[in-house]
Amino acid sequence: MDKFLIKGPNKIKGQVSISGSKNAALPILAATLLFDKEVTIDNLPRVKDIDTMINLLKSLGSKIQFSKNKKTVKISKSKKQNFLAPYSLVKTMRGSILSLGALIAKYKKAIISLPGGCLIGARPINYHLSALKKLGMKYEIKKGYIHASSKGKLQGKKIKFSKISVGATENLIIAACLANGKTVLKNCAIEPEIKNDLTNFLNKAGAKIKWTGKRTCQIIGVNSLKETKYSVMGDRIETGTFCVAATLAKGDLLIKNFNPKLIQTELNLLKKTGATIKTSKDEIHIKGPQKIKNISNIVTKEYPISLATDLQAQFMVLLCLASGRSSITESIFENRFMHVAELRRLGGRIIIKGNKAIIEGQTEFIGAELMSSDLRASAALVLAAMVAKGQSVINRIYHLDRGYEKIENKLRKIGVNIKRLS
Ligand code: EPZ
Repeated sequence: MDKFLIKGPNKIKGQVSISGSKNAALPILAATLLFDKEVTIDNLPRVKDIDTMINLLKSLGSKIQFSKNKKTVKISKSKKQNFLAPYSLVKTMRGSILSLGALIAKYKKAIISLPGGCLIGARPINYHLSALKKLGMKYEIKKGYIHASSKGKLQGKKIKFSKISVGATENLIIAACLANGKTVLKNCAIEPEIKNDLTNFLNKAGAKIKWTGKRTCQIIGVNSLKETKYSVMGDRIETGTFCVAATLAKGDLLIKNFNPKLIQTELNLLKKTGATIKTSKDEIHIKGPQKIKNISNIVTKEYPISLATDLQAQFMVLLCLASGRSSITESIFENRFMHVAELRRLGGRIIIKGNKAIIEGQTEFIGAELMSSDLRASAALVLAAMVAKGQSVINRIYHLDRGYEKIENKLRKIGVNIKRLS
């Protein structure tokens, strides 16, 4: 298993180019199952989760043709369609559940492994299932699999999600594109990966999706989607991770290829800690302060209300170095503090009370051997090791490879002493 060896402390200077967004590419790739015609997707990030989604599409019968650099893929339908998303793929990536809406809308049949819980929480899919049922999907759970079918075409309906869910919103938008009549989805997740990218991609292919209210989406079903080429947006969480890195390491960093408006909430928080930020259309120039200020009462919330849960661990590292006490409440997932025990091994002083972390500031991290637990927790450990005195080894970095494209190469270019040990 690969590890990172990081020697610190490091200062950051230079520029970094943001890769395509994993969490935008995954639903877009799943939605290609709706098409009879060829679809070309560009600006794919080269990360493990994208490989898993591509393998799922292949196993479902899609024909895949990558460009040499694997950033562009042409996807077309083969004659032999399958309907089974096996446990072996779903267990490695829960995003596989996004194939359910597309398969049921297009082929009226799907057998998808039920994703289990994962380290950050139980993560049920009850909202996906109950909303698809309202459109006419029937299902039963047998031996760990969802056996889903629909007698005819799905039927457009009014659905109000009882809780905001990224995945359920995506699955329903995808399914409703080929349903009969009008679907209205209320209380939707409005992350840019959905409200901008998934919507723009499907509309470019002839879908009729319109956001009629802040969290309300109207979809008029169409019979088919047309041949389309689409370029995936930049990765919001990778951008946020580099913004935190620069703030943390007294950095001077130019971040390219990301629209700053889509990460304004997090940039405002970083300004509060003392970062100096200048933005233009698709660039962020960020300079870290000499002294990091603490912030109390941050609560993770759905976009765009407050800090993204996918950046909570990285912000916690930053606040360990702040001049006073801070706190972060995790309100999206019930177990997303796996990084805390590892940060304590570096010297972090963090107390957990329920879903709230109280972070004493003024920590001087000292390098140590660390264990990655999940994707974003691993990114946080890299950031902490980067500013820690001495040497750190981060084990199990396959978690990072799921969602960050060549993070070590990008960090090395901006001055970080980091090496991958295979
Ligand atoms: C997406 O997961 C992202 N994954 C996650 O990113 C991200 O952390 C999360 O949204 C929240 O922003 C992808 O986009 C592939 P949810 P998703 O449905 O769709 C509960 C990363 O690091 N819930 O919005 O699974 C759920 O348990 C990953 O890149 C139900 O109870 O998140 C959670 O507490 C990790 N029933 C909350 O809602 C349901 O049917 C939000 O989950 C669905 C969700």
